Amino acid sequence: MDSMVIVGNGPLRGKTFASGSKNAALPLLASALLAKGSHHFENVPRLADIHTMLQLLRHIGLEVSMQHNTCSLHNPGKVNPEAPYALVKTMRASVLVLGPLLAQYGKAKVSLPGGCAIGARPVDLHLKALAAMGADIMLHGGYVEATAQRLRGVDFRFETISVTGTENIAMAASLAKGTTRIRNAAQEPEVVELVSALKKMGAHIEWEKPNELLIEGVEELSPCQHSVCADRIEAGTLLVAAAITGGEVFVQNAQAAHLGAVMEKLQQAGCTLYEECCEVSKKQGLRLVAPQRIRPLQLQTQAYPGFPTDMQAQLMALLTIADGSSEIRENIFENRYMHVAELCRMGANIHVEGTDALIHGVPQLSGAPVMATDLRASASLVLAALRAEGKTTLSRVYHLDRGYEGLEEKLAQLGAKIERIHA
Ligand code: EPZ
Repeated sequence: MDSMVIVGNGPLRGKTFASGSKNAALPLLASALLAKGSHHFENVPRLADIHTMLQLLRHIGLEVSMQHNTCSLHNPGKVNPEAPYALVKTMRASVLVLGPLLAQYGKAKVSLPGGCAIGARPVDLHLKALAAMGADIMLHGGYVEATAQRLRGVDFRFETISVTGTENIAMAASLAKGTTRIRNAAQEPEVVELVSALKKMGAHIEWEKPNELLIEGVEELSPCQHSVCADRIEAGTLLVAAAITGGEVFVQNAQAAHLGAVMEKLQQAGCTLYEECCEVSKKQGLRLVAPQRIRPLQLQTQAYPGFPTDMQAQLMALLTIADGSSEIRENIFENRYMHVAELCRMGANIHVEGTDALIHGVPQLSGAPVMATDLRASASLVLAALRAEGKTTLSRVYHLDRGYEGLEEKLAQLGAKIERIHA
């Protein structure tokens, strides 16, 4: 297992960029199950989770290839509608093949994802919605075994906002018979991206309200050609790297429209943010100028457009060195504080009670051997290490590789002392 060695090296400065969005690419790749023929996706990030999804689609029967950041998938029409535990257990988003398989092939055998470090991660709402669309759902031996003559449209309200739940049902409804209304739908930019790709494939799908989708099922969809949007969470993470080191960094492809809640908190913490166009690449992005001292703040994670849970660990790292005490409330996942113990090993002063974390700012962090436990926790440890005095060794870096493309190269380019130790 690879590890990473980081030595605090002062303010980061310069230009970097956000790669394609992992959480937009995953449902887009799954949507290739909805239409026979050749699909083409650009700006797909080279990540472990993308590799897992491509392996899964290959297992199901699609011809899959990836050159640099371009993915080509050929759906021959006849497939093996099964997602085995061996693949699903490493990535919960595998559940995104369930809706498309049921809608297109009338059956699916998909392993239940099982929990992960940040929580139980149930898929009960996905199954409830598909059952309401006429699917027969059986749970057997850790697998969901589902069949459906033809899914039918439904008026379904998500009792809890679910990103992949909304995505799964939007894809299934695109080929169902009749009209589907998805109420309390997730509004994340990645969901919006999938909806626009489904439209390009011929789906009759519209946003009736910011959180409500109306879908008229069609008989057949065409293959998809799409370029994936930039990863707003990676962009936010790179902006926090500038903030925590007291630096100044331009993140190309960072979109203010997708980062409103994150920008608001960074500005509250004393950072100055500018929307700019890179004079060389002519591409839009965000420049962050860090303050001398980070101001404490309060934040709560919410579904979009609220503050994203996927940025909670990164903001916590920043607040460990703030001038005063901050409070975080994690409202989305029940166990998303795995990074706290590791941050405290680096000298942070954090107390957790249930879903609340109280962070008392300290003047300095010190490097230490720490262990990654989940994707965004590992990112927060990298951020803390960039600020800490001395050397930090981060083990189990495979967690980071699930969601960040070439992070060490990007940070080194900005002046960080960071290197990967191959196991
Ligand atoms: C998506 O996960 C993202 N993953 C997550 O990003 C992100 O943290 C999460 O949305 C919240 O924004 C992808 O898009 C691939 P949910 P998802 O269904 O869809 C409960 C990362 O770091 N729930 O929106 O799995 C659930 O337990 C990852 O990139 C049910 O109870 O999350 C949670 O408390 C981590 N039953 C809440 O809803 C269900 O059937 C939101 O989960 C589904 C969800």
